[in-house]
Amino acid sequence: MDFKSVGIKGLGYYVPEKVMTNFDFEKLIDTSDEWIRTRTGIEERRFAAPDQATSDLCVEASKKALENANMTIDDIDLILIATCTPDYPVQAAACLVQKKLGAKQTPCFDLNAACSGFIYGLTVAGGMIRGGVYKNILVVGAETLSRIIDMEDRNTCVLFGDGAAAAVVSEVEEGYGFLGVYLGAEGEDDDILKIPAGGTKKPNTVETIENRENFVHMKGKDVFKFAVHALPRATNKAMKIAGVTSDELKMVFPHQANIRIIEAAAKRIHAPIEKFYVNLQRFGNTSSASVGIALGEALEKGKLKKGDLIALTGFGAGLTYGSIVMKWVY
Ligand code: COA
Repeated sequence: MDFKSVGIKGLGYYVPEKVMTNFDFEKLIDTSDEWIRTRTGIEERRFAAPDQATSDLCVEASKKALENANMTIDDIDLILIATCTPDYPVQAAACLVQKKLGAKQTPCFDLNAACSGFIYGLTVAGGMIRGGVYKNILVVGAETLSRIIDMEDRNTCVLFGDGAAAAVVSEVEEGYGFLGVYLGAEGEDDDILKIPAGGTKKPNTVETIENRENFVHMKGKDVFKFAVHALPRATNKAMKIAGVTSDELKMVFPHQANIRIIEAAAKRIHAPIEKFYVNLQRFGNTSSASVGIALGEALEKGKLKKGDLIALTGFGAGLTYGSIVMKWVY
């Protein structure tokens, strides 16, 4: 059976203007620029303005992606937002994006695979296009993590930032686009990274708020251990499916959580660290937006050209992970 070639026809990203530096955190909690930089690589991150929520970040990134794809919102058949920080617990952020972009009647839904969300979203969109369900799908990875981190918990609050990345996924020239896709999850590790309260298991009460259970809780070392095996596992599997070796990859776009995780993954993928695009020093961990923001920046800097083989690879809460190897389309 012949499959359609599916890929990214246009990409755009957006980060809020407000810069939060490590020095800003020094004024708020018992931490230091030196600790954050040496343990994570992060120097600063962006925080959304008080009147911005996830759908607003999505809209900015989507406009750029549509422009780069030479399309308008009327060309889009489905809006898919990958996020774990929607504007509201009930009502998909995708529906708010539909309204703000003026896309009447376009179907919309959100997908939550945490920091692997962009890769999961691209995979779902790719499958739908291959199956002939839709022609052009807008996939956005976007987060306003600054609203769900505990600004009194130094173990977590210094790691995250806000941002969005959008991709127009469509049928592309034969042989281009997604060549190998691999997704995975380890649901048994369900106590490592989550917001304990505020869902249906434990609705928020005065007590959960007092205990700060409405914010992200994370066992950092366990996440680290998971990440250094999940990133290479996903990438190596996707490369194998694509029939591509790490020598052939021009660049790798990893989830931007921690430079030490990326360095460890690079060794296990047998690719030099120079092939890994890293911008976590300026944006921190933007969860489902991070891989797309990295890709968007690399494009802006002219680091990618048509036909380049690249890998996107990520991991996140769930625990989830995934990778897509693709031949760049434009
Ligand atoms: N500033 C100063 N000290 C801090 C700190 C901060 N921001 N955060 C933690 N510390 C302290 C800890 O309290 C601990 O002190 P203690 O030994 O007195 O208890 C000490 O630093 C060492 O902590 P440790 O957990 O051993 O550090 P680490 O080398 O494992 O680095 C992380 C911590 C969080 C940076 C690292 O584990 C990590 O990056 N994990 C993955 C997290 C991640 O990627 N999450 C998102 C997934 S999508």
